[in-house]
Amino acid sequence: MTADPDARAGRDRPEPEAGPEDALVRALVGVVGDRHVLTDPAVTAPFETDWTRRWSGRARCVVRPRDTAEVAAVVRVCAAHGVAVVPQGGNTGLVGGAVPVAGGVVVSLTRLDGLEPVDVLAGQVTVGAGVTLARLQEHVAAVGLAYGVDLAARDTATVGGTIATNAGGIHVVAHGTTRAQVVGLEAVLADGSVVARLGGLVKDNVGYDLPGLLVGSEGTLAIVTRARLRLVARPAHRVVALFALDDLAAAVQLTAHLRQRVAGLTAVEYVERAGVELVVARAGVADPFAGRVHAAHLVVEVAGAEPPAEGLAAAVADAPAIRDVAVAEDGPGQARLWVVREAHTEAIAAEGVPHKLDVTLPLARIAAFRAALDQLLAARWPGSRPIVFGHLADGNLHVNVLGPGPDADRLDAAVLELVAEHGGSISSEHGVGRQKTAYLHLGRSDADRAAMRAIKRALDPDGRLNPGVLFPASSPAAT
Ligand code: FAD
Ligand code: MLT
Ligand code: ZN
Repeated sequence: MTADPDARAGRDRPEPEAGPEDALVRALVGVVGDRHVLTDPAVTAPFETDWTRRWSGRARCVVRPRDTAEVAAVVRVCAAHGVAVVPQGGNTGLVGGAVPVAGGVVVSLTRLDGLEPVDVLAGQVTVGAGVTLARLQEHVAAVGLAYGVDLAARDTATVGGTIATNAGGIHVVAHGTTRAQVVGLEAVLADGSVVARLGGLVKDNVGYDLPGLLVGSEGTLAIVTRARLRLVARPAHRVVALFALDDLAAAVQLTAHLRQRVAGLTAVEYVERAGVELVVARAGVADPFAGRVHAAHLVVEVAGAEPPAEGLAAAVADAPAIRDVAVAEDGPGQARLWVVREAHTEAIAAEGVPHKLDVTLPLARIAAFRAALDQLLAARWPGSRPIVFGHLADGNLHVNVLGPGPDADRLDAAVLELVAEHGGSISSEHGVGRQKTAYLHLGRSDADRAAMRAIKRALDPDGRLNPGVLFPASSPAAT
């Protein structure tokens, strides 16, 4: 019930209903101590609105356990009081999954920030769910290793949150998504029991793969408390290049060309003219081509034990349709090129609350989808501003549409239907959250959805964990 000095001031919001909160709060204080049960609206506000500002709700309170035993006890207290539990890591999620839209107790995992020594023999490390990606990278860099997942929210996004969303990021082309990094997990189930696979055994096929099931479960099946993670070699050298191209079709061709010829490709990221203009205007990013305008761009990173710049230059010598290129071999130069891509999310947010649709398309159809998207928006939402970028090697586009307000619900539906028509996925790396619960049928069959509901009912029969996420709040999955 403490005021957190670091917390941002809250907005005017209605007081929570009077009632049995006191008993709930007293019981939670009994578990984690007075300082770690937050009830002051000015203090809880940052935990109650998501990063996009599109989703918010009022928490009964925010509780900050420090270890697995406290998380388990908090879950049991919430169950005894019939209260929903909303797990939260860094609250950088972009689909409304970590905020208490449907009420409940927010369980913030950021105090579970333990870093165990790196197991150099196995190339693995065990860390707490609340460790940020940046701290994890720093920790393992000390022994010459790296973690295979990286993304622009690295300073705040947590290991637990990235596991719960199966986050992708910029290095999927080299190392796969978060799922591919998780060797084992420890997690608290809805009844407060703890399951753990932290022994680091890469081969361990004793029945169902519970850690695998929890990756991407968005806090609806369990609370992740610790993770055993695979590590990768830390490359000695890297080169970053920004290629300018005529359009998305040319970017797809160049991606295929690079995939065939370049060993050590660690990122292939796509940005368009509208996005580059926005980051130059909004985020103070230096114009990479000093006024020379191009419709499409790829940020390409190659890493290796030897300096890879020459190899990249040779590989693109016969590549089609490169209009311009900027290359950086030193750290500051590489940061200047990367920021052109990584500043997109913040620059868009500075313009307003966008419709943010994270989707995957087959690379063979991605350019046709992109053209159809412009036609759709021009016909139905004239004046809307699409800012499209993404992880092109994975076929992952981040479709951001500025202009129409968040209540223009049909816009999300129309874009996701277009994705499905083109053989794509409506949820690439951010998750379903609250944003896409109504559209699961566009990505999963009746039988798939029934199996998912059966798993939810089996592991969380009272629908206590993150109700309204993944399945609609009224879904029978939750009962
Ligand atoms: P939160 O936002 O706190 O939670 C996300 C979900 O996980 C919620 O459903 C929550 O209930 C659940 N959850 C959190 N912790 C736990 C836990 N310990 N146990 C169980 N459930 C839990 N995402 C990408 O995939 N790729 C990107 O490239 C990328 N770039 C981004 C760039 C920016 C600038 C921003 C703001 C976001 C970006 N994201 C990206 C989205 C976001 O960072 C990821 O979804 C990330 O995985 C969320 O981590 P978090 O700790 O902030 O989780
Ligand atoms: C990114 O790749 O930058 C993100 O996933 C964030 C976004 O979609 O805005
Ligand atoms: Zn992304």
